[in-house]
Amino acid sequence: MTTPMTDSVLLHFIQTTDPDEIADLFQAARDLRELHYGKDVYVRGLIEFTSYCRNDCYYCGLRCSNHSAERYRLSVEEILNCCHHGERLGFHTFVLQGGEDPYFTDTILTEIITEIRRQFPNHAITLSIGERSFDSYARFFAAGADRYLLRHETANETHYGQLHPNNMSLKARKKCLMDLKEIGYQVGAGLMVGSPFQTAEHLLEDLHFLQELQPHMVGIGPFIPHVQTPFSTFGNGDLDLTFRMIALTRLLLPNALLPATTAVGTLSPKGREAALLAGANVVMPNLSPLGVRKKYALYDNKICTGDETAECLKCLQGRIERTGYSMNMGRGDYIHLPF
Ligand code: 5AD
Ligand code: FES
Repeated sequence: MTTPMTDSVLLHFIQTTDPDEIADLFQAARDLRELHYGKDVYVRGLIEFTSYCRNDCYYCGLRCSNHSAERYRLSVEEILNCCHHGERLGFHTFVLQGGEDPYFTDTILTEIITEIRRQFPNHAITLSIGERSFDSYARFFAAGADRYLLRHETANETHYGQLHPNNMSLKARKKCLMDLKEIGYQVGAGLMVGSPFQTAEHLLEDLHFLQELQPHMVGIGPFIPHVQTPFSTFGNGDLDLTFRMIALTRLLLPNALLPATTAVGTLSPKGREAALLAGANVVMPNLSPLGVRKKYALYDNKICTGDETAECLKCLQGRIERTGYSMNMGRGDYIHLPF
C-alpha cells in the first residue's frame, strides 16, 4: 500500500466495509510489523494487583460508584509470588495494573518496584496505575520501572467529557503521558473503539494524537458494556472497526508494540488471532491469582478468568502459531527506527 495517509484516506479506512480494501490494509499492516519485529509476538504477564479505584469513569466496572464490585488488593508477597510464577513460565515482562488506589502510596509502590527489580534484574517492569504526578512517575522509574501504560481513551476534549466525570480531563491525561515520555519510560497510550458517543472523526483525532505523541505501545480494544455502569445499555464496540484501527495505527507507528487485547478476545473466539493478522504483535495473559481474576471486571464476560496462566500460555501459543507467528518470551522492548 503506497497511498499517503492523508486525513481523507484515514477517514475512508475508518469507515470502509469493502473486503478487498480491508484485506489490503491488513496486509500492509502485517508487512510493516514483520519488517520491524519479524514473526514474533511478545508476551506480557499481567498482574492485576488492586481493584480499588478512586475514579468514576462512566464505562468502567471498577468505578468507585459501583458498590457491587468486589474489591481486593494483593499483598507484596502475593505480587512477588505472581512474578515468580511468571518467571517459571518464562515471562520477561511483568505488567502491574490496578485502579487508582490511594492505599498504594508512592512509598509503598516504590518499595514494591525496588523489590521486583532486585529479584528480577533482567525483567521489564511495566506500570499501569493511572494518573500520578511527575515526581511519583520519576520515583517509580528510578526504582526500576521501565514502561507505563496509560490509555488516553479519546483525544477529543468533548468526547473525553462524555466518558468521564468533570474532575478528570484530557489535558491532565495528556500531561501524564508527556511526563512519562520525558522521564524516559516506554509509554503506552490507547483507546476503546466504539465507546459511547464516539464518531469516525474522533477516531481520526485519536490517530493524529498518536502520531503526535509517538508512543511506544498502543492498546486498542472494543468498548464492552458493564452492567453496573451508566453505559450498561450501550452496545459493544465494532470488532472490525477495532481491527482497522489497529492496522491504521501500525501504518502510522510502524514500530509500535500493539497488543491483541483481552477485550478483542472477549467479543469473538478468534478475535485475538484477527488482531494479530491486522498488525498487533503483543499478547498479555493474566498472571493474577485465580481467586481474584473475576473481581477485576472492567467489563462483562471477560475471558480467561478461570484458566491457570500456564493453560492460557499454551492456548495462546497455539493460537499464535496457527496464525503463522511465533511466541517470543523475551522482554520485547521497543525497537527504535534506524533513522
Ligand atoms: N470496555 C472496554 N475497555 C474498558 N476499559 C475500561 N472499561 C472498559 C470497558 N467497559 C479499558 C480502558 C482502560 C483499560 C484499563 O481498560 O481503556 O484504560
Ligand atoms: Fe487464556 Fe486461551 S488465552 S485460555
